[in-house]
Amino acid sequence: MTAANKLGIAIMTSGGDSAGMNPAVKCAADYAAQSGYIPYLVYDGLRGLVADSIHLASRELLSGMMHKGGTLLRSSRSPEFFDIEVRRKAYENLKARGIGRLIVIGGDGSFRALNQFHSDFQIPFAGIPATIDNDIAGTDYCLGVDTALNVIRQSIDSIRDTASSFSRAFVVEVMGRHCGYLALTSALTCGAEICLIPEVEYNLDSIGARISAEISEGRSYIIAVVAEGTKMAEYVTRYINDSIGMEARLTVLGHVQRGGSPTVYDRMMAYQFAIAAVDALKAGETSSIMVYRDGTYGRVPIAEVANRKYRMDTALLKLAAPLAC
Ligand code: F6P
Repeated sequence: MTAANKLGIAIMTSGGDSAGMNPAVKCAADYAAQSGYIPYLVYDGLRGLVADSIHLASRELLSGMMHKGGTLLRSSRSPEFFDIEVRRKAYENLKARGIGRLIVIGGDGSFRALNQFHSDFQIPFAGIPATIDNDIAGTDYCLGVDTALNVIRQSIDSIRDTASSFSRAFVVEVMGRHCGYLALTSALTCGAEICLIPEVEYNLDSIGARISAEISEGRSYIIAVVAEGTKMAEYVTRYINDSIGMEARLTVLGHVQRGGSPTVYDRMMAYQFAIAAVDALKAGETSSIMVYRDGTYGRVPIAEVANRKYRMDTALLKLAAPLAC
């Protein structure tokens, strides 16, 4: 196949960054080239698509990516993409380079934007789920989650050292937007005594009675993991301090959870999702999202992701109950 009749595929990252985006970009570009396409990289997310920040995926641009956290292509949240004239500019930029397909690595908001773009200009796209929140419907896993969980695990292990040394309670607020997946998984794997997430009802009075009984039996410190979506972290800290009577401190982990070198698991997932995305476009799919469900890789139409709400596994949610009462 000569360069002239090859087809361009542009690869971009969009929305909140997460570890695993860089390996996904590299694997998608390499595999697209092996499959006879010409891979391009879009810098700065949707904004870069409009501003024509589009570059041929050269060896130089693709090197040194696998171990880097965040996204080397950078990202943006760009409300201006709602404007059809702005989207037309993006289309003209792609057309000028012979780019007829897109791979977008990001969240469901980015997938919806690309779906609108496809309806407008018939540019097929494949979506790779990437967000530390793990809140995209249709898939059990989103890129970046394992790395974020390991950052949280390391932080809580460290906090435990000082909590036990000073006989204090620590409330650790973790990210996840409206989803409690990060908080619950961290609480279970770090041995927290308390966990509050938006999906599970909690009762502070019964938590207080349980913890007070444990204190009288010899418990000397407490770890409570609270999902940001509950907006309860400060309140719980005051409650433990004032009502349970144990000196309490609040640690908000914040954006540290979004950074860090991707774990081996995230690199492998990036690899699998990237190959699936190129294969989906090769097979003529126009708007599909890559998913990992019940241990199997697959793809679903955008509607299955965009029109549904993510629901956490009920068996996992059951494990939260003893930590919330
Ligand atoms: O969606 C990822 C996420 O990190 C959420 O967990 C968090 O609520 C939000 O993004 C923070 O957004 P920003 O980076 O715009 O402050």
